[in-house]
Amino acid sequence: MTKDKFKTRANVFDAFTERNLFVLSSKGFFEETTMSPLSIGKEANVFTAQGKEGHVIIKIFRLETADFTRMYEYIRTDPRYENLKHRRREIIFAWAQREYRNLMKARDAHVAAPIPIEILKNIIIMEQIGDPAPKMKDQIPEKPEQFYKAVVDNMHKLLKAGYAHGDLSGFNILNDQEDPVFIDFSQATSMRDPKGKELLERDAKNIATFFQKLKVDTSKEEILKKVYAE
Ligand SMILES: Nc1ncnc2c1ncn2[C@@H]1O[C@H](COP(=O)(O)OP(=O)(O)OP(=O)(O)O)[C@@H](O)[C@H]1O
Ligand SMILES: [Mg+2]
Repeated sequence: MTKDKFKTRANVFDAFTERNLFVLSSKGFFEETTMSPLSIGKEANVFTAQGKEGHVIIKIFRLETADFTRMYEYIRTDPRYENLKHRRREIIFAWAQREYRNLMKARDAHVAAPIPIEILKNIIIMEQIGDPAPKMKDQIPEKPEQFYKAVVDNMHKLLKAGYAHGDLSGFNILNDQEDPVFIDFSQATSMRDPKGKELLERDAKNIATFFQKLKVDTSKEEILKKVYAE
């Protein structure tokens, strides 16, 4: 595949991003011709493509239209990013890097989450869950009680490693054949971040509300008790 052919396919992105996509596909991380769009979010476009083994997810944070001021507010109190300047590109690259590092933390802590494969500036490549697996909000768990327990167990493991997801909901938990898998880790932060506790409590509230609707007897307080338990 020549660079020109590549460009005609990926021309939704700025030249910088297209160049880096070309670099990654040239290195064999994904097969460019199989790249197809999955989702367009607030900050990122997500694609699926054939990888080295199985399908991969390519998450691209948009350089032009991402709300980097909002990102800056979230990331600047994370002790890992204390010295970050208020500059668009730096913030977006840091935001992508934070998601990548958080995915590594999650894997190390045995949290069910995609395996991170590669990062280049504003582009992350990670394992694709399922083909791809539906979001929990779209594929309601068949055994809510069991699913709920697995969600809380994952929150617990993440907290033991010192982190909170910070954006947990039916959108960011996949239902992988009746097992939860957490995704979308860009907001996940260290509990040394002064916002950590508040984010964890918000996650507990969202999860409680979701499973209460499925008749699971739980509450924000109950979840926090389990998540903080030894
Ligand atoms: N590893 C993965 N495996 C399978 N599907 C995925 C994976 N990562 C993302 N997806 C799909 O792509 C969608 C968007 O991904 P994600 O939640 O990470 O980004 P986002 O919500 O668009 O981010 P933002 O709100 O910051 O723009 C998910 O809801 C999910 O359907
Ligand atoms: Mg999401």
